[in-house]
Amino acid sequence: MVFGCHPQQRRSAVARIAAVSPLFGCGCAGRQSALDTAGSEADATSLLFWVLVGTGALIWVAVVGLLVYAIRDRRPTWSEDAAGKLILWAGPVFSSTVLFGLLTYALWLMPGLRPATDGALRIEITGSQFWWRVVYHRSAKPPAISANEVRLPVGEPVEFVLRSDDVVHSFWIPSLGGKMDMIPGRTNTLSVLANRAGTYRGACAEFCGTSHALMAFSAVAMMPEDFDRWLATQSRRPASAAAPGQDLFLRHGCGSCHRIDGTEAHGSVGPDLSHLGARETVGAGILPNTEEAIARFISEPDVLKPGTRMPSFRMLPPEEISAIANYLKGLK
Ligand code: CUA
Repeated sequence: MVFGCHPQQRRSAVARIAAVSPLFGCGCAGRQSALDTAGSEADATSLLFWVLVGTGALIWVAVVGLLVYAIRDRRPTWSEDAAGKLILWAGPVFSSTVLFGLLTYALWLMPGLRPATDGALRIEITGSQFWWRVVYHRSAKPPAISANEVRLPVGEPVEFVLRSDDVVHSFWIPSLGGKMDMIPGRTNTLSVLANRAGTYRGACAEFCGTSHALMAFSAVAMMPEDFDRWLATQSRRPASAAAPGQDLFLRHGCGSCHRIDGTEAHGSVGPDLSHLGARETVGAGILPNTEEAIARFISEPDVLKPGTRMPSFRMLPPEEISAIANYLKGLK
């Protein structure tokens, strides 16, 4: 106890609290924080959070102040009438007024929380154990298929169309907006408006199996002209030099699960790899995108992502795995 102890003990307890207090602020910043915002909905919800925290803190200070006052007050007991009035006004009246005010504020925020979309850019996301299929639909342009990474233009509302292939997942980019469940047999939509360029982290927010915590993705908010330029590259076939890895990739049957535009690989069970080399991460947000990481994922996906449906290829000679990784890293 801090209050009922020796002054020296009290000082050391206060010093300990002061030493750990910066830890409470750690969750407020970073690329996966709902309080370090870069989107319109995240702005509104973080403001709501701070209003609730601020109001709660004020009430806590007032209650503790009253408690200290009551302990130190040496006057004879209050009259029954005065005590009754205090209980009435500081109890039901004050609590209901504060709760009603906060509820009104939260309800007032809700209608404008999600920006209206005009359908100009729709991004279809399908959750699978434990990765994300991503298809961009831009009016009058052919759809562009990708995986495990979401890119969107700053200042333009985007409609996410959310589905699931197997179990319930949940799509969430905390820095940009709220979360939305992805339910098998159902289509949910979520509109998001990014207002600051940057790379953020999205995650699956619903327990979906062994590797739920390893089902992440990067969300890159880009300036509109950069986004259009990037999207055009996604609709083009990857420039694939006749790398020896391509032959090995096809010969070992990788193409029955993965698709690479412009080759015989047309699989759709696993992530599209057409532009894998240009993505931020490998394995849905779990490894940096390097040749070594790709080789490691091919060799031991079961270790890196327990429960994944991709079989391991550790029986292949290491030089063949390196050649396939070199080919995949070159797909941009
Ligand atoms: Cu998908 Cu958790």
